[in-house]
Amino acid sequence: MFKTRVTTLLNIELPIIQGGLAYLAYSELAAAVSNAGGLGQITAMSLPDSYALRDEIKKTKKNTKKPFGVNFAIGQHGRSYEEQLETAIEEGVEVISITGGNPGPVLKRLENTGIKTLVLVSSKRQALKAEQLGADAVMAVGQEGGGHIGKEDTGTFVLIPQIAESLSIPLIGSGGIGDGKGMMAALALGAEGIEMGTRFIATKECVHAHAAYKKWIIESSENDTVVIKRKLGMPGRTLNTPFALKILEEENRNGTYEHLRDYISGEANQKFIYEGKGNEGFGWAGQIAGRINEVLSVEELFIQIKQEAKAVHQKWNSLF
Ligand SMILES: Cc1cc2nc3c(=O)[nH]c(=O)nc-3n(C[C@H](O)[C@H](O)[C@H](O)COP(=O)(O)O)c2cc1C
Repeated sequence: MFKTRVTTLLNIELPIIQGGLAYLAYSELAAAVSNAGGLGQITAMSLPDSYALRDEIKKTKKNTKKPFGVNFAIGQHGRSYEEQLETAIEEGVEVISITGGNPGPVLKRLENTGIKTLVLVSSKRQALKAEQLGADAVMAVGQEGGGHIGKEDTGTFVLIPQIAESLSIPLIGSGGIGDGKGMMAALALGAEGIEMGTRFIATKECVHAHAAYKKWIIESSENDTVVIKRKLGMPGRTLNTPFALKILEEENRNGTYEHLRDYISGEANQKFIYEGKGNEGFGWAGQIAGRINEVLSVEELFIQIKQEAKAVHQKWNSLF
């Protein structure tokens, strides 16, 4: 139904990639997405070490026979990724995605391993660089997306065609996509697949997200996210929990890393993700939260997306 260079490259049925989701993307979600026909991912940097990553990969392999990926958000928290990368290679994962820093060394290491590589970027310059460094495909996230969004502030609607027309390798559109209409729009703009993050938090198989996190997403309007860490040069979009608003206030008062370190820490992130404490923590999410109205299973979500995509296709046919 949706054959593109991305489905062929990744050996998947639907051109849908589950974004790396820090502290949320473990085996349950990854396997559910892959089983439903997309590409699920485990996020390596949420796991303490290479032993934990190996366990998580093994668990995922038990739960799906289909391809899945491991996401490396490199250059974060000053942590090294080399050991975990070797583990992912040894375990023979099909796909590795990279974000957050210079992908060059990772791409170099993955040369001739047969592992497909995706690089998440937020600008045309970074996309061209990733292609030049040997990525198999690029994922581009617009500023409406959840989590880290890049400094350029370009929206998905402008970013996708701008990059798609410049690249030879396939492009995966990301940021603000949560349904079949969004997927078809991305494909119309020149993407050959989509990546979704926020939409997957509000799924049954995102078992690590506290009910309050999912509820907050479902009850949010499109105006209920804020961008923090702009002054640190690494903007990220989060739900407007009282704690996230406090971070913004502190950032406006003193935007240095030293001042903000505890506010923006992984621990503060986990206070909301795992404990649902909006007064003590924050949770990344994009503007698409305003269009997410129910918690579904991944399979139900994909059935809905296919139906919506078909309706768009029929509507387009009737236009000509
Ligand atoms: C809770 C959350 C955590 C994220 N963590 C990561 C991460 O660890 N690695 C990564 O590559 N992207 C991460 N992202 C970005 C997503 O992969 C994806 O690019 C983004 O969510 C797309 O925008 P959307 O939320 O509008 O779908 C995260 C996004 C969210 C919402």
